[in-house]
Amino acid sequence: MRIPESKIAEIAAASDIVQVISSYIELKKAGKDYRGICPFHGDKDPSLYVSPQKNIFHCFGCAAGGSVFNFIMRIENLSFVESVKLLAQRYSVRLDLEIVNQAKEDSREKLLKILELGHSYFVRSLNKVPEAGNYLLERGISSEWISQLGLGFAPDQWDGLCDRLSSLGAPVREALSAGLIRKKTTGGYYDYFRGRIMIPIRGLNGELIAFGGRILGEGEPKYLNSPESEVFKKKNILFGLDAAKDSIKKSGFVILVEGYFDQISLRIRGIENVVAPLGTSLTSEHAKLLKRFSERVITIFDGDEAGIRAVKRSMPILLAEGFEPECIILEEDKDPDSAINRIGTEEFLRLIKSSRSMIDFFLDQLQSQYDFGGISGRNQAIQECVPLLRQIADTPERDYLIERFASRIRVKEDQLRRAIRNTGVTKLIPGLSSKKRGSSLFDFPADERNVVRGMILSDGFIEKVKKAGVLSEIENDSLLRLTSSIMRFSEERGTFDCSSFCLALEDADLAALVASWLQPTPEEDDLRAEVDGEITINESMERLKSKKILRRKSEIEEMLKKCEPGDHKYNDLARELLNIGRQFRR
Ligand code: UTP
Ligand code: MN
Repeated sequence: MRIPESKIAEIAAASDIVQVISSYIELKKAGKDYRGICPFHGDKDPSLYVSPQKNIFHCFGCAAGGSVFNFIMRIENLSFVESVKLLAQRYSVRLDLEIVNQAKEDSREKLLKILELGHSYFVRSLNKVPEAGNYLLERGISSEWISQLGLGFAPDQWDGLCDRLSSLGAPVREALSAGLIRKKTTGGYYDYFRGRIMIPIRGLNGELIAFGGRILGEGEPKYLNSPESEVFKKKNILFGLDAAKDSIKKSGFVILVEGYFDQISLRIRGIENVVAPLGTSLTSEHAKLLKRFSERVITIFDGDEAGIRAVKRSMPILLAEGFEPECIILEEDKDPDSAINRIGTEEFLRLIKSSRSMIDFFLDQLQSQYDFGGISGRNQAIQECVPLLRQIADTPERDYLIERFASRIRVKEDQLRRAIRNTGVTKLIPGLSSKKRGSSLFDFPADERNVVRGMILSDGFIEKVKKAGVLSEIENDSLLRLTSSIMRFSEERGTFDCSSFCLALEDADLAALVASWLQPTPEEDDLRAEVDGEITINESMERLKSKKILRRKSEIEEMLKKCEPGDHKYNDLARELLNIGRQFRR
């Protein structure tokens, strides 16, 4: 149930990786390859390489990489199958929809459908409960906007939606996965959302993927979101982006607020380029997503302790993606919703115009707290900056920040750098971090790495490895996953070739890993022809084999201690041990 390999190859050939990537970023020829500014991290110098020979891309900065499909997955935020479909369409390769991963498509469709069923129930219930409608009207949301936004209400009962769905004959399994209902421990099901105003959460194309539910009146928790599902991943979703994206592009900036009602209030009062994360703090995925629409982010915080903490949290994430984030601090209101209700759109727009650099705000904050004139004040300020700077990978962004911080606190850049280094291991922004760490060949245990790499690069090596039985010796997690992909691929086909394998690799992390192995920096490439790669991989395999045998040896020795000399088992074990000894003397 997937797109046949020949189709994938056909689409990859028709869509030419250099052509595809250069429709997103500018590529320049560099020897056999092409290079450009990587769109996946705050790149300044071109560190993204595209190799038309190997049919891969690879970034030396953030270690993103893989096939043309992996590139599309990442930049368009699509699944593997979706990106194959997109390129097929763009390059007019016929793709019969039936052969597309039907199972997956179906389950997505089913989820979306059941969410729509839930939605129509919530909308209908809102009309039946005047209390709920009045609450929204009191918050300044007209009935036109209520229907435009698709707001609804989940009545305060345990089985309203359950009954409705079962009377429609809707499948329970999907209702469960969509998070609309839950299983009782005593058997049967109950409604997940009760007594809540229901706010539809939509994907980038406006499809309904989840709900946020606000309690009507007082109660805990104030907001309840749909659980994550196949179609709803919080870290990738920004509330309101579907409606805001055009306005963000047009205005050239995006306003980031904290809550659902902040987004809604601004939107219905004519400020449309507004989005909010979903009860989580901003993630680097969010920042990357925004980067696709705009270069400028203005965040609105309140002026109290929580607001300042939020500044500290989101600043490094935005900086790491190459934004120069700006902020607005509300002094008199607790959130943008109450602010715009109090002062109106005109005044609010003026407020937005007065946005200032988040970095400056942070430094002002530090200065008002510590006396930069004295050594102890400066030291304390450094201590505040260090955790923040340590979250940003060692990139030009960080250098720039260090420069700004150092000059403002009036310390030498070097002192700040030392402080960053001294406080333990640098913790990078997730996403940047894991990739960055995986980017060096040497981050993997050498023998395991050589063997797995040999399986990909060297013809016939997979068979040798299988015969030697050393796969059980691979302990590194990523390498384990990669090995099982390789084995599955080669067993299904009875043969293995590297380029088809790359094209079929759906997992973004593994694809990036393989791309970095195919295109390592010369100083890291310990399997180059002149280093004699074949000998190296064979030696590594032998070492893994010995490791395995030695482990068996100590296992046997342990077991022998527990056996009666002379009995059946004892003799077998002793014979095995003898054999092992012979093998090693050979
Ligand atoms: P706030 O508590 O600031 O609420 O939470 P709010 O948006 O001002 O809500 P109203 O105006 O009282 O209706 C901000 C955001 O944090 C998330 C929600 O996304 C909310 O919009 N949140 C808050 C939760 O996910 N769960 C909660 O229990 C509370
Ligand atoms: Mn509010």
